[in-house]
This record gives sequence, C-alpha cells and structure tokens, in this order.
Amino acid sequence: MPVVSLTEIVGPAAQQRYGVPAVNVLNDLTLEGVLAGAVEARSPVIVQTSVKTVKSIGSEVLFSLWTAMTRGIEVPVTLHLDHCPDRAVISECLQRGWNSVLFDAHELTLEENQRQTVEVVAEARGYGAHVEGEIEGIGVEDGVGSEAVGPDGRLAVERQVEFVRATGVDVFAPAIGNAHGQYASAPTLEGDKVTAIVEATGVPVALHGGTGLSTEQFGDLIARGCAKVNISTGLKEAYMRSNLAFLKDAEAKGKWDPPSLFTAVRADVVAFTKGLCETFGSAGKAA
Ligand code: 13P
Repeated sequence: MPVVSLTEIVGPAAQQRYGVPAVNVLNDLTLEGVLAGAVEARSPVIVQTSVKTVKSIGSEVLFSLWTAMTRGIEVPVTLHLDHCPDRAVISECLQRGWNSVLFDAHELTLEENQRQTVEVVAEARGYGAHVEGEIEGIGVEDGVGSEAVGPDGRLAVERQVEFVRATGVDVFAPAIGNAHGQYASAPTLEGDKVTAIVEATGVPVALHGGTGLSTEQFGDLIARGCAKVNISTGLKEAYMRSNLAFLKDAEAKGKWDPPSLFTAVRADVVAFTKGLCETFGSAGKAA
C-alpha cells in the first residue's frame, strides 16, 4: 500500500467510525517508529509535522526521510502539515509533496480566513492535496496558536457548517472544549457539535488535543465522526521519558552507547503508536 491522500485515509474511517492516529513526529527516529507501529498494528496512520519541525529539519530533508521510510510500506500512510498560518510554508510543503495541510488562519477575521482558505484549497488541489480548516483557536501547538479557548464567544455550528461548505475543506477542526498539551482537569467536550457538523456537511472532523482524553471520550467522539485523532504531547513525553530512563541507567552503569539508546527509544515509540491504533479502533483496518 503506497502513500495515499488524506481523504483515502479519513474517508473509510469516517464511514466505519474508527479514528486514525494523526501523530506529530519530531525527527527521523519518531517518524520511523510511528510508521513501524502502524505497520505492526496493521493500521493506517497520518504522520504530522509542525511548522517548527519543518523549519528545524528543513522540508527537503524531512520529505526525503518520508519518501525513503515509506517506500514499499504495507499500510496506508499520509503526510500532513499541522497548524500552519504561514502561506509560504503551506506552499513550500505542497510543492515538496506533503499530502495535506492544516491552514490555521483562526487569528484572522472569519471572512478573511474563509477567503484565504478557499485559495489554499485551490492551491492544494493543484497538487492533488487536501486541506483541513479551522476557525476557532484550539490552543498552542509548537508555538503556533492561542491559549484563548473556552466556551465564551464560540461560533454557532451554523457558521462552522457554512465555512466548511464555502471553502470545500476536506477535514474540519472545530473547537469543542479541547486543548493542546496536558489537561489541567478533565475537559467537558461538546460532542454534539461534532455530530451536527458531520451530519450537515459529511466532512470528517479532526479531534485536536488528543493527549489526556479518556478512552470513553475518544470512543464517543470517534462514533460521532472524529476520523482523525491528533496526538502530539503524548509522543513528545513518551520520547523524552524513554530517553531519560535510558540515560539515567547509562549513567548509573557508566555505559554510553548511542545505538542502544536509539533501539530502546524506538521500541517505546512503536509501542506508543500501537497503543493509539488499538484505542482509536484503527488497528487491523489496513488488512
Ligand atoms: P496534543 O498535544 O494535546 O496531543 O494535541 C495534538 C494536536 O492536536 C496537534 O494539532
């Protein structure tokens, strides 16, 4: 199964009501580990890159890693640019071959966001690529976004539906009480908004701020049409904790062998990804 488009992955997921992990990778090791975890789980997977990661590694090197690591891969995979307000980075990634982008223009006026999202959708179509849209801030992801989330001042579902229809976005990311990073206390999520948007538009919803939600919350939102489930903080923590545990042990033993570190951390990244596939119901869907 080659690299496929975003809609080829979220379409069946939305229809059959399972969620596909959309995991923010940070480097070569996490990219390879997430792909390997999806292969072991026989699951489709969406690999995401933040703007920060694109800038720190460079789109050329990052895309070369992606191409090399997905050659001959046995499960459907797709490469997505997460929260990006910068049209130049959107264009750069589309030109390189990213399969989809989240144009995050929620800090613009709604009218300007809608106008520019229409342009981004047209630009993406030129590359056979897809677009996720957002109109209300969900929180900060690798320095992009705003913490200003809450029930106040939320847009009516009708306006969100109008945005989805007018722009032709392929996936929509509504603010439903979710937030990036660890939750200070268990969030109350507005699942009814997901149901209303999916029923009115037929467009799958992306669940942002996946880290820290309960299995029950995932199950409920996925059943309502959240076909793309974003996880970033969870992988960052798993990665850092794995490194820390190994390095503490290395220090205690006075044994410093980087390849052993990479092997140990990779195993934890693979296990983490397989766990997501099981929780979201995508395991086994890439028969
Ligand atoms: P978390 O960092 O809470 O997992 O959210 C990830 C996300 O939504 C990326 O866009």
